[in-house]
Amino acid sequence: EKAKEPEAHTWSWEGPFGQYDQAELQRGFQVYQQVCASCHALEYMSFRNLGEEGGPFFDPEYPNPNDNPVVRAIAADYMIVDGPDEFGEMFEREGRPADRFPSPFPNENAAAAANGGAVPPNLSLIVKARTGGAEYIRSLMLGYDYPVPEDVTVRPGQYYNPYFPGGVLAMPPQLMEGLVEYADGTEATPEQMAHDVTAFLAWAAEPHMEARKSLGFMVMIYLLIVCVLVWLAYRQVWSRVH
Ligand code: HEM
Repeated sequence: EKAKEPEAHTWSWEGPFGQYDQAELQRGFQVYQQVCASCHALEYMSFRNLGEEGGPFFDPEYPNPNDNPVVRAIAADYMIVDGPDEFGEMFEREGRPADRFPSPFPNENAAAAANGGAVPPNLSLIVKARTGGAEYIRSLMLGYDYPVPEDVTVRPGQYYNPYFPGGVLAMPPQLMEGLVEYADGTEATPEQMAHDVTAFLAWAAEPHMEARKSLGFMVMIYLLIVCVLVWLAYRQVWSRVH
């Protein structure tokens, strides 16, 4: 079965000047942390990334994210396995900004065993990895309310979602009304959470988008100036030819 076309949606970061919305990223992080993180890893991401320029908790007062108190507090809420120590033992300690986000499962077999045989994919690059990008992720999260077509079999532990290629997946519906209590008081409707968590994952997949766009803009200005100079030089060089 062909997957349903993701629903069109407007994002703050669209277009050549589009930027991420920091409040959105913060809420999206809250959804990832409180909902998705129990099954999905955020491989490659360190706590300090959250406090880098353009990130959800960037604070110009703390340009070095290792000093950012919010980032430090988020990291310290995690227990990280470290070691071996001088006795050859592994030990647990509080997280630090330089630590990676811990994965919910020790390996893929454990992840599959806990999820009816399907491995919840790492979400750090998922917005780039899937056709349809952010629209697809958002539609998928909101796409569980469709009647199951007659020719589709949904086995125990499976769910019908027309946006998922094949229509049947092992992830249960996630976003229930009021599932999280947003720190900024925003009402946590499923649409709001789907939007926010997708924004967060879009940032995670391309954290340097804003820098890339502003560099691109400077390059365009530079080329414009070069064009003018070349035109003037051309006029100068050919000025005595009639
Ligand atoms: C798959 C997002 C929470 C279990 C996926 C996929 C995405 C996603 C984008 C990939 C779909 C694809 O391959 O195209 C999210 C988000 C969550 C969340 C944003 C939080 C809001 C959870 C939770 C669980 C879970 C809490 C476990 C109870 C799975 C599993 C799959 C999956 C098992 C693989 C499905 C399959 O291939 O059949 N999720 N997820 N997810 N998710 Fe989640």
